[in-house]
Amino acid sequence: MSSVKIERPRGTRDFLPDEMEKRRAVERLMREIVESYGYREVCTPTFEHLELFTLKSGEGILEEIYAFKDKGGRDLALRPELTAPVMRLFVNECKVMPRPLRFYYFANCFRYERPQRGRYREFWQFGVELIGSDRPESEAEVIAIAYRILERLGLDFELRIGHVGVLRELLKDLNEEKSSKIMRLIDKGEMDELEEYMNELNLGELYEKIKEIVKVKGKSDVIERLDLKKDVKERITKVCSLCDAYEVEYSIDLSIVRGLDYYTGIVFEAYAEGLGAQKQVCGGGSYRLAHVFGGEDTPSTGFAIGFDRVMEVCKIEPERKLKIAVVNAGDYELALRVAENLRREVKAEIVMDVMGRSLKKQLSHFKDYDFALIVGKREVESGIYSLKDLKTGVQEKLNFEKVVEKLKKEVKE
Ligand code: HAM
Repeated sequence: MSSVKIERPRGTRDFLPDEMEKRRAVERLMREIVESYGYREVCTPTFEHLELFTLKSGEGILEEIYAFKDKGGRDLALRPELTAPVMRLFVNECKVMPRPLRFYYFANCFRYERPQRGRYREFWQFGVELIGSDRPESEAEVIAIAYRILERLGLDFELRIGHVGVLRELLKDLNEEKSSKIMRLIDKGEMDELEEYMNELNLGELYEKIKEIVKVKGKSDVIERLDLKKDVKERITKVCSLCDAYEVEYSIDLSIVRGLDYYTGIVFEAYAEGLGAQKQVCGGGSYRLAHVFGGEDTPSTGFAIGFDRVMEVCKIEPERKLKIAVVNAGDYELALRVAENLRREVKAEIVMDVMGRSLKKQLSHFKDYDFALIVGKREVESGIYSLKDLKTGVQEKLNFEKVVEKLKKEVKE
């Protein structure tokens, strides 16, 4: 039979056990944090009707979508993000649940992007959606949770808060095509191109105003001096003062426009050091999507953390599990019974040889383990086992209860 070496698709990755242990440890920490704020996990399908993402996600996402037809000719897409799916779930399943709803998710997403460090075609997002409140308290809560996660992961990061209403107000008299092109150029920070484009449209004066707004960066007092709509100014001020109470550090940045079209109010992004160009580790804000999917207009706020980017720079190490080898002195079946009993009692990695090695070879094979429990006919008949500490070489003779007691203590330490 001929054999063909098959590579994994571009932009995807394999994860070996060391990496998976680290990923699971980080995931556990994230879950713990969001659950401590009362968020509960939801899960949506990996693929959805294409329309879910074409209705309101914006041009950036559309260019990158993994769309396909199934055998019944339906247009489907692998999810590029989870806000639209979670809002679809909300509209379909949660009509009678009391508001607000606090949901979180950890799931893979797919975007057909040019792969590079920190940019993959399959990547994972950890995110929350707080559904049904239009108040600054909910925006500040969501911002604070994102901040706490990045802080607990030991990241060196910066959080910036903006409001899409500021630029939208300036652009309100332009048509959709022009305003979304302008927003995209601002999002990419391409100010020279923006100036050229706006001069072509005879919008030089407006360009100057935008330039001023985009420049605004700093603490909450920077907006006091600006000529903004009253409600927008009040909102930013209130969210900032709540963030101060949460002891969240941030700066105001009115150039944040986000790549997705559904945002309506406060928006925020976090950037981490040590990642190069793909340093945005978190993005989120307030949006309205439920009415687009046939539900009532429902104000919501959320964020998603780019899990793979965070993994590159976070300092969390997985807890090391206690490793025990159950070594057989000739009778494999007797030893495996003891190993099974031990697994019921002690939370550790309990491994047996499956290569038919001799007692001596087993001990040498498991030399990096913490303990070896030696099981032979004599040990089972007498009920006294030899437990060898492989780090110190000390061997003790103990009955099964004492073995369990000793190993349990080791697990706790
Ligand atoms: P987003 O900014 O498009 O927002 O994605 C969130 C995060 O996912 C980014 O900040 C980035 O860290 C990570 N990310 C995006 N694309 C890739 C990629 N190709 N490879 C690796 N990581 C990537 C959203 O998706 C919104 N749904 C966030 C949200 C939730 N807004 C409200 N609720």
